[in-house]
Amino acid sequence: MDEAIIRLENVSFSYEGAEERAVQGVSFDVKKGEFLSIIGHNGSGKSTLAKLLNGLLLPSEGRVEVAGISTANEEHIWEVRQTVGMVFQNPDNQFVAPTVEDDIAFGMENIGIPPSEMEARILDALHQVHMTQFRTAEPNRLSGGQKQRVAIAGALAIRPRVLVLDEATAMLDPRGRREVLDVVHRMNREQNMTVIQITHYLEETLESDRILVMDGGMLVGEGTPESVYQKVDWLRRLGLDVPFASDLQYRLQQKGFRFSALKLTGEGVLDSLWTSD
Ligand SMILES: Nc1ncnc2c1ncn2[C@@H]1O[C@H](COP(=O)(O)OP(=O)(O)OP(=O)(O)O)[C@@H](O)[C@H]1O
Ligand SMILES: [Mg+2]
Repeated sequence: MDEAIIRLENVSFSYEGAEERAVQGVSFDVKKGEFLSIIGHNGSGKSTLAKLLNGLLLPSEGRVEVAGISTANEEHIWEVRQTVGMVFQNPDNQFVAPTVEDDIAFGMENIGIPPSEMEARILDALHQVHMTQFRTAEPNRLSGGQKQRVAIAGALAIRPRVLVLDEATAMLDPRGRREVLDVVHRMNREQNMTVIQITHYLEETLESDRILVMDGGMLVGEGTPESVYQKVDWLRRLGLDVPFASDLQYRLQQKGFRFSALKLTGEGVLDSLWTSD
């Protein structure tokens, strides 16, 4: 898992007319097969960063490389878009066609997938997200969770090596969120697909390989869930909440309990209480 599939070198971005940079001097690598989460309060630059990852936005300064290709290289922009698929927050804004299968086909047409390959890819993508039976359904009649799974199928049909989810579960209820999350974790595990998820639901980041923390357009921290969520005061200063288990452990620590390492689940915290002296 050591090879980088995406590399950012000192990337900054300003929206036209804006005084402040939305992203400032950000550098990091995303490894092949990694499950990476990006957190940060509203306006910290997460969505801007996401759009820089597949050339929807180009850096004002610095460089973004996808599988060795600069996103600023116009000749290869379709290779970049094919490598990095994106799913955004609001499923309703992501459908253009009258049926689920037409919608997935439309996305493939856009990047020049030959029509002869489309049917197999549609079936495969719908199968991955457990939505095969909805192939001829109207997208706007689906539930929020089903819509997001179709949106993910649309991204998967392009066979991206990296899937970026920008608050793709934000509009869903807990069950819908779980459905979507299960699908991407499975794709990550079984097909070694690299996943980059942006979310405000910190509980959903606990199974990540690594978490990046954004603040004011800058990358202000990174590490494993255990190392990031142990910095409770720091996270709160950044306007972020902390997951249940780290809050619990933090409050127990204030009362004098000592833990050797942060546990990410309530059960884990309890276990270490039993075994500590
Ligand atoms: N299209 C735009 N034009 C001008 N400024 C923008 C635009 N989109 C975002 N911004 C500004 O850029 C900064 C970063 O916004 P961004 O959407 O990347 O944040 P975010 O971390 O995704 O926030 P949220 O958690 O609310 O989704 C903010 O100050 C925002 O106001
Ligand atoms: Mg955003």
